[in-house]
Amino acid sequence: MIKRPKIAIVGAGGNVGAAVAQWAVLKELGELVLIDIKPGPAEGRALDLSQCGPWQGFNTKYTATDKIEAMAGADVVVMTAGVPRKPGQSREELIGINAGIVRDICKSVKQHAPDAVLIVVSNPLDAMVFVAKQVTGFPRERVIGSAGVLDSARFRTYLSMATGVSVEDIQAFVLGAHTDKDMVPVVSNAMIGNVPVTKFLSAEKLQEVVDNTKKGGATLTGLIGTSAWLAPGAGTCLMVEAIVRDQGRVLPCSVELQGEFGITGAFLGVPVKLGARGAEAVYEIELSAAEKEAFGKAVAANTELMTIARGFLG
Ligand code: 2OP
Repeated sequence: MIKRPKIAIVGAGGNVGAAVAQWAVLKELGELVLIDIKPGPAEGRALDLSQCGPWQGFNTKYTATDKIEAMAGADVVVMTAGVPRKPGQSREELIGINAGIVRDICKSVKQHAPDAVLIVVSNPLDAMVFVAKQVTGFPRERVIGSAGVLDSARFRTYLSMATGVSVEDIQAFVLGAHTDKDMVPVVSNAMIGNVPVTKFLSAEKLQEVVDNTKKGGATLTGLIGTSAWLAPGAGTCLMVEAIVRDQGRVLPCSVELQGEFGITGAFLGVPVKLGARGAEAVYEIELSAAEKEAFGKAVAANTELMTIARGFLG
């Protein structure tokens, strides 16, 4: 049989992991392994997904298990394990619970899937990418955080809602941290059909869009009662697709900065080229003075969270 890419999703018993699996099945991205350290939920999610097949027209079979070693030899590992935030809670507050979970799973990734590209989705995102990078010792190309794709999708959606134009014709990135406070929606480079967004919206309206984008996750958590999963899953799946199909997509992802934007050692969302080897390039873009300042604050906040996360590395 022709070898298909092996994609392991850890935390697949949860909403985000299950959503990644759902989008990956629809896109026929490869052989899926759904893992949850708690026995039952991953198996349940896989069974539920299988039962979509008769109407959605797919026959994919999945491995679903509580055995972490099922990820052996995976080409891509998606880490969604950890607790989601509750209404009123910040992502940063999850560090005490999630850092240990992410650390332990990353030890298994290092052992069982040493050549994988690891996509981290667990929160607080950028600090968890740091933990993953430290524990696996993988090169930065292969430890990538999924958040910029989600935040940029929210930015584009709010821009579309404010202007009434198709979301597909809006090019806009969110960089910086995946926190309500230190996300950096890059207005200075945002375009609609190649025309700057400033031609479409007043400064006030743009500020409203930026504010809505930054608190996008909190808004959903308040409305749903737990954090969102469909768009986080779709954005993460886009990254998986770019890797397994070697597409060379340019997407905002969280990686370790190694001198780019004048920063070394912080983990933040920046534009990267995603292909078979992971984050194959990091691109620097011009930012306005206000955006540069916001990016600087994101670096400081990330440094603080990394200090806390270091306490879990042991
Ligand atoms: C969000 O912003 C789950 O952090 C994720 O919805």
